[in-house]
Amino acid sequence: MPQINDNYLKLKAGYLFPEIGRRVTAFCQENPTAKVIRLGIGDVTEPLPPAIIDAMHKAVDEMARRETFRGYGPEQGYDFLRNAIVEHDFKARGCDIAADEVFVSDGSKCDTGNILDIFGLKNTVAMQDPVYPVYVDTNVMAGRTGAADAQGRYEGLTYLPCTAENDFTPSLPTKPVDLIYLCYPNNPTGAVATRETLTKWVDYAKQTGAVILFDAAYEAFITDPSLPHSIYEIPGARDVAIEFRSFSKNAGFTGTRCAFTVVPKTVMAKTADGAQQAIHPIWNRRHTTKFNGVSYIVQRGAEAVYSPAGKQQCADLVKFYLENAQILQHGLESVGISVYGGVNAPYIWLKTPDNKTSWDFFDYLLKNAHLVGTPGSGFGASGEGYFRLSAFNSRANVEEAVVRIKTLLGRLIA
Ligand code: MLT
Repeated sequence: MPQINDNYLKLKAGYLFPEIGRRVTAFCQENPTAKVIRLGIGDVTEPLPPAIIDAMHKAVDEMARRETFRGYGPEQGYDFLRNAIVEHDFKARGCDIAADEVFVSDGSKCDTGNILDIFGLKNTVAMQDPVYPVYVDTNVMAGRTGAADAQGRYEGLTYLPCTAENDFTPSLPTKPVDLIYLCYPNNPTGAVATRETLTKWVDYAKQTGAVILFDAAYEAFITDPSLPHSIYEIPGARDVAIEFRSFSKNAGFTGTRCAFTVVPKTVMAKTADGAQQAIHPIWNRRHTTKFNGVSYIVQRGAEAVYSPAGKQQCADLVKFYLENAQILQHGLESVGISVYGGVNAPYIWLKTPDNKTSWDFFDYLLKNAHLVGTPGSGFGASGEGYFRLSAFNSRANVEEAVVRIKTLLGRLIA
């Protein structure tokens, strides 16, 4: 009989979003007439922009003809997409990134988990708290932690608390760490990093030899022109940072699946005997062995994100979701709730009213307003007492949600 990877048994019962789904399904079964509005998981609702659909239709037609049919593509992504990414996402912002440093994949969730394959188990890891649960859980699965304590903090991880008291901006770790996850604009708090904040992290990594795992899946939601979209806008970052980007939220690809990870050739780690080792060839080896590339049709769709029409249509999509965020923010503030995020991010992070715990507020909102959000404590111990609402929904649902919030919470707070 084989032995299971016991590290999986250390994980808390369910991944956050399936657990929410389970509670919502149970509620809907008991209340079949309730019109539940889901502002929980950050899943897009609006259709793919027409420029993307056109490009994918053309690609489908190419697949139908012998002369233009494609089989396996390059595992790292087609040149047409890698070149477009470099041109528009990096060169246009003054970042020195080459096309062969871009690895196209089927999602940032996968990549932020998979990247751990290439790092030794003895590495120490720091992350923001609250945090996207995938960073924590994949480290637990890999065996880099002990057990969780009562608040769900795993032994061996360095948590960097982000609360209203520190403006959701974490301090540098007080003891040395090898890997640091940073997510900006932040999921779940909606906080952003200024150029100064990112410079502080890049300088820290340069001084200590740490590598930053920078998740920029929400960069398209940055509205403030002074804020950096990529960590590579910071001098020196290409020596110390890996960046994760996604088409899920800016272009509506959550179901279509396409993302990319940037691994500059200048990011170094060390071998067991202390020699310097570039990360790029190791990640290339991992990616080409365990992954067979994103489909041609989807990559043509992703390329169209960078066409003039695609750029405009994706910008409109992002604007639409940000308007939703503003509607939610104003609605919550009008009944006296403290609200964060939502300006440069599609998430609203709110302080639960009446000192409710995050899960109590989840149940309260579901039962009394038929609204689903995400309990802050599900993102980490420092998220307790907070709650996340996603702006990814139709306008009608967001407006209806605000009416229900005002009715219910206006009464609670009054
Ligand atoms: C979220 O709700 O945090 C995101 O949808 C999760 C994800 O993108 O995987």
